[in-house]
Amino acid sequence: MTRHFLKASVLSACVLACTSVGTFAAGPAVEIEKVQWPFSGIRGQFDKAQLQRGFQVYKEVCAACHGLNRVYFRNLTQPGGPEFPEEAVKTLAAEWPNQITDGPNDEGAMFERPARLTDPIRGPYKNEKEARSVQNGAYPPDLSLITKARSVERHAHWTVHPFLMLGDIAKGYQEGGADYMHALLTGYVDAPADVTVGEGMYYNKAFPGHQLAMPSPLADGAVTYQDGTPETVENYSRDVTAFLSWAADPAHDQRKRIGWQVLLYLLVTTVLLYLGKKRIWANVKH
Ligand code: HEC
Repeated sequence: MTRHFLKASVLSACVLACTSVGTFAAGPAVEIEKVQWPFSGIRGQFDKAQLQRGFQVYKEVCAACHGLNRVYFRNLTQPGGPEFPEEAVKTLAAEWPNQITDGPNDEGAMFERPARLTDPIRGPYKNEKEARSVQNGAYPPDLSLITKARSVERHAHWTVHPFLMLGDIAKGYQEGGADYMHALLTGYVDAPADVTVGEGMYYNKAFPGHQLAMPSPLADGAVTYQDGTPETVENYSRDVTAFLSWAADPAHDQRKRIGWQVLLYLLVTTVLLYLGKKRIWANVKH
């Protein structure tokens, strides 16, 4: 009885999973380009200089509309991230334009104070209502987990999907969110002649449905890099995407490193166990 129930549930889950693919997007299907990130695959690690540039892009461009509430200033100094010096981050926090609401004070009132290392990186709006009223009804989402919250859509026939999934697992492909984000930031193009773009909306080839309320945030030369990296939309987009991938997965480097160590440990243990078994059973006839 339970076995039949289990079989039926697994089957219906598969059917649901497969049939829902492809019903999400309106308009022509877009294949999202897979980028070769420094953190791609099972061995990739973040590039510290890229994370630092990415934070600069977030700070100078995206922070005008988006918060990063699950990232704390102190995280910017921690190993595996941009690793800015602590003193620099203290100053950054103290000068961050969006202050922290604290309190109550001795008179019982809440007050605003400059951020410290232990505070989250606040966006410009107090809440969703305020954001929507300023942004013409649209809501710029918090970017802390955005690379995990988005992914690439596959447009193959549903029968092919299990194989694509197995391929992704074999290659350790986990960068769907980053690939989508890069495609979004570089995906602003002129709308095709037969498409009417709504008022206050912008055409983007990577966005599902192709019209969103965010104007193209990046332009060549908009952010001045200190390390000589060419100041192009392509580089800004890669850098800020790498930074937001770190924000969503700050233990990434350590996780992959420990993963390899565990595999090595298991390999050595397997050899030892095999040799031990041979020795213990050496005198037993079989
Ligand atoms: C002028 C304000 C503004 C700026 C600057 C801005 N955004 Fe946005 N962003 C928005 C709004 C508004 C939305 C919601 C769009 C919608 O729902 O149609 C949005 C949505 C998004 C989304 C979600 C898209 C999706 O799939 O739902 C991402 C990702 C994003 N922004 C990233 C960024 C990044 C990265 C930057 C900096 C390079 C940036 N934004 C700069 C206003 C802005």
